[in-house]
Amino acid sequence: MIPKKEHGKELRVAPEGFKTANDFFEDLFLDKNLIWMGQNTNHLHDENFIRDAMIKAVESKDYCKYPPPEGLNELKDLVLEDLGLEDMDLVITAGATTALYYCMSDLLTEEENAISPDPGYLIIDNFASRFAKEVKSVPIYNEECGYKLTPDLVRENIDENTGLIILIDPLNPIGGAYTEEEIKEFAEIAKENDLFLLHDITYRDFAQEHYLAANYAPDNTITVYSFSKIFGMAGVRVGALISTNEVMNSIRQVLIDDLGTNVVAQYGAIAALKSKPEWIDYVKDTTFNNQKIIKEAVDKCDGCFILRYPSDGNMMAIDLSGAGINPKVMSKYLLERNVFTREGEYTSKRFGDRYLRVSYSVPPEDVKVFAREFVDAVEVLRK
Ligand SMILES: Cc1ncc(COP(=O)(O)O)c(C=O)c1O
Repeated sequence: MIPKKEHGKELRVAPEGFKTANDFFEDLFLDKNLIWMGQNTNHLHDENFIRDAMIKAVESKDYCKYPPPEGLNELKDLVLEDLGLEDMDLVITAGATTALYYCMSDLLTEEENAISPDPGYLIIDNFASRFAKEVKSVPIYNEECGYKLTPDLVRENIDENTGLIILIDPLNPIGGAYTEEEIKEFAEIAKENDLFLLHDITYRDFAQEHYLAANYAPDNTITVYSFSKIFGMAGVRVGALISTNEVMNSIRQVLIDDLGTNVVAQYGAIAALKSKPEWIDYVKDTTFNNQKIIKEAVDKCDGCFILRYPSDGNMMAIDLSGAGINPKVMSKYLLERNVFTREGEYTSKRFGDRYLRVSYSVPPEDVKVFAREFVDAVEVLRK
């Protein structure tokens, strides 16, 4: 017996030698020696504020109780304070992923379309496609638009059925962030056309400068927030969804986690926000400077280039097409040498055969290993 509904989502293919894709990821996850540059996670926290708060929460056995359904008030206030959006409303979620799903499930109707960037974070498109008539994924793989979804591109693609514009800022996988001018223009477009902006600010704190759409079009913006990246808490799954009280009251009707979000993670998140001034410069500057190591290596390789340098995220995309190298072959080669990176297919079906995504919130020594192996790999794999 199989379910009757068709969803159109391709199942993850198991890599060679593994029964399922999950087995492959578990194998990587359990390998303590792997250099972790294949997920945009953060491995630079060498202080223990977050860890200690979570240990204390475990020791108190608070995890025996269900926490308040929308999150601990202290955490909610700290998130709003972090963004300077004290007048807004929010719910704490099990990561930005859950927040994104809530957005799509409440905001999009069956007649509407959503506009998103390609390359981009495909999970968002997938969620949108479950609720909207269409996801218009706009090609942005070119220098002319700066490898990001610009206000001009949005204007070209908008129609009377557009309900949502998806802004990933900075953009996974390329790393472009929006200027204040661009954010203001998006705000105008949203207000003029009476549509929503989904502002996914998962990588905000890595950007040299960052502007919140919520400050320019508060009634039209939903902001998606994550503790996975700058705070280095990907494994405990905590994030938030922020908008006006009116929008949030609508979203409240589609919440799934009625019994709350992991309370140990929430105590960790409180400590993360309170301790932020102690570590932010170190984490941000080390991440940013790691890019130079990669740039020097890529510059040695004819036919390869970094799409946006410097990137405003903790990841970048390296185009390998001029060297005739398939990114899948490159990531497999590097994995055999203990370096985990991601082929472009994970963030774009259309352009994924051109680039490798590399994340670099890891110790500089690890980035140096990547740099060395990458230069060797290009020589070996070049066609
Ligand atoms: C743009 C973007 N949004 C959301 C997420 C998911 O974040 P979380 O771990 O908080 O669910 C990611 C993860 O890579 C991402 O790249």
